[in-house]
Amino acid sequence: RIFKRQMQCRMDIDRLNAPFLSIYDSLIPTEEEKAKQKQLFTLLERLVTKEWPEARLYIYGSCGNSFGVSKSDIDLCLAIDEANINKSEFLLRLADILQSDNLQNVQALTRARVPIVKLMDPVTGISCDICINNVLAVINTKLLRDYAKIDARLRQLAFIVKHWAKSRGVNETYHGTLSSYAYVLMCIHFLQHRRPAILPCLQGMQTTYSVTVENVECSFFDQVDKLRDFGSHNKEPIARLVWGFFNYWAYSHDYANFVISVRTGSLISKREKDWTRRVGNDRHLICIEDPFEISHDLGRVVDKYSIKVLREEFERAADIMQYDANPCVKLFEPYVP
Ligand code: GTP
Ligand code: MG
Repeated sequence: RIFKRQMQCRMDIDRLNAPFLSIYDSLIPTEEEKAKQKQLFTLLERLVTKEWPEARLYIYGSCGNSFGVSKSDIDLCLAIDEANINKSEFLLRLADILQSDNLQNVQALTRARVPIVKLMDPVTGISCDICINNVLAVINTKLLRDYAKIDARLRQLAFIVKHWAKSRGVNETYHGTLSSYAYVLMCIHFLQHRRPAILPCLQGMQTTYSVTVENVECSFFDQVDKLRDFGSHNKEPIARLVWGFFNYWAYSHDYANFVISVRTGSLISKREKDWTRRVGNDRHLICIEDPFEISHDLGRVVDKYSIKVLREEFERAADIMQYDANPCVKLFEPYVP
């Protein structure tokens, strides 16, 4: 009887595959939108290299890592190999140049935690942030993009999770919840842990790509075309993975003792990282290790209030997946305070 019930549950969950996939499809940027992003990038690249021929412009964040939904802003990083440039002066100069080329709403935010220039392109309607020398972000963007190429289910899962997080108001680091980057790492970790595994641990494999940035050695296996079959032993479709993801964070994860680590493809103990207590503003209530800056906990923004909000949202989502008649609607219902 138990076996029969389990089979019944699976079939119940599997009825959600089609609706989840159509939500996923509706979130993907169109080719037209991607062409517009490219057009803006080319324009900005031209303006920048005219002024600083040795500088290079890179895309990072969701437009570069393949986890960007339609209508995302573009995150750009200007890499310039000059020791001791004055970032503020540089950004102000950049803002001047962009303004004289008819870009709109140009603003240099020189006092922000990550100083940037913001702008909007009236031709494509796309907004964009440009930061300077944040090269680690460019490398972690590549890592995420490479993971996405291995198994299509990662992109599906991450789009659904990001969409859920935005709808429920738990994708706001300034309110103590998690960044999109953190959610994607949680999805990668989750798929590394499925049995059979759906994703490998690229940083634990032979090195085929290696760069050293800000004294951090970033190396991993990036010939991901060779890994296209990696997850094929696991046939779980998207609905079961969404169900599993929320159940993991609602009822299985041991928040008190463990750190999730995409770098090692496993859980590591909080004690080992010395993340057992509050240090300064970092409370380590949910621990997500950055794959390259390993002293960096992406959960550091979460405080004793927002951890409760987050965990209640994971439980809400898991319970909806389990019991609700129409989870695909209820899951994404906007949070109203
Ligand atoms: P959306 O804009 O919400 O679609 O997602 P996004 O992928 O652009 O995410 P987010 O704004 O969270 O982060 C943008 C990029 O900044 C990420 O892809 C990372 O490359 C980088 N990033 C974000 N947070 C951190 C961080 O704490 N440390 C480092 N090293 N990089 C980060
Ligand atoms: Mg972004």
